[in-house]
Amino acid sequence: MKMDLTGRSFLTLKDFTPEEITYLLDLAAVLKARKKAGELHEWFRGKNVALIFEKTSTRTRCSFEVAAHDLGMGSTYLDPKGSQIGKKESIADTARVLGRMYEGIEYRGYGQEIVDSLAKYSGVPVWNGLTNEYHPTQMLADMLTIREHFGRLKGLKLCYLGDARYNMGNSYMITCAKLGIHFAACTNRKYFPSEELTAQCRGYAEDSGADILLTENIAEGVKDADVICTDVWVSMGEPDEVWEERIRDLTPYRVNRDVMAQAAPDAIFLHCLPSFHDLNTGIGKEIFEKYGLTEMEVTDEVFESSRSLVFDEAENRMHTIKAVMAASLGVPEDLNV
Ligand code: CP
Ligand code: NVA
Repeated sequence: MKMDLTGRSFLTLKDFTPEEITYLLDLAAVLKARKKAGELHEWFRGKNVALIFEKTSTRTRCSFEVAAHDLGMGSTYLDPKGSQIGKKESIADTARVLGRMYEGIEYRGYGQEIVDSLAKYSGVPVWNGLTNEYHPTQMLADMLTIREHFGRLKGLKLCYLGDARYNMGNSYMITCAKLGIHFAACTNRKYFPSEELTAQCRGYAEDSGADILLTENIAEGVKDADVICTDVWVSMGEPDEVWEERIRDLTPYRVNRDVMAQAAPDAIFLHCLPSFHDLNTGIGKEIFEKYGLTEMEVTDEVFESSRSLVFDEAENRMHTIKAVMAASLGVPEDLNV
């Protein structure tokens, strides 16, 4: 279905209808096919985007940069330390400056109110590259990956294990509720999504036919799940002091062979990455030295198994981010999506 999202920001999937989300996935699939076929799609030559990163990134930054380049645009990367943002200049002032020079702005960082402000003051589309509350571009990549694998989304069941009240858990609940995917957050109740967001998502789920389940019981949460997902136990920007408690609370919810065995027989595993599944990272080594864990939210066995689609998911970040930028900037009239 054709949709006109020109001029729209992409701050949280709460702002988008199921049809608009599906359109973005369809557009991403078209752009992915074009890229694979080597067909240029430099629709926005002469335009530029600003990429603000107050937190570090591999996938999101590279996706925005490659996607912008593929679309014919220039991009400027503003790193966590190298600009005036926040320290010498307010978000409102920064937004008004960047809005004079760029056709779109990506922001990765802290509170959702920052992307809201950028959108309010810049006058150009703003794309959320991760806030504490939401990670909407990640959701499109995950949904595209799931749809490519199963051929559909509606009626599937997705179970998220781990910290379900941060950006990834919140975003999965919203996205599943909107698209008619049954959602289970399976974790210690301290990490359930907020009552307010859950109530809002139950409203979306009424329209889409999705179920929402918050449970501490692994067998109940993962039963019949087609998609098992997790995320790091401690997110960027959280203090090191929370590690001990997180390890204690969330180790029972690690995705391991038993968890996968209790899901649907053909269940897949997704993780937004980066992931602590072995000791080949600095933080992984530090945690091993301090707490003796050799793997955290997912075992290396599951991560490396054929059911793990994490690298397809990572690739799809680029195609879906490209779709978001293209939709906001206005895709060509004759594009067949
Ligand atoms: N998944 C994700 O957002 O990865 P980066 O932190 O590397 O951007
Ligand atoms: N919850 C993680 C996601 C990283 C992509 C974080 O915010 O660090």
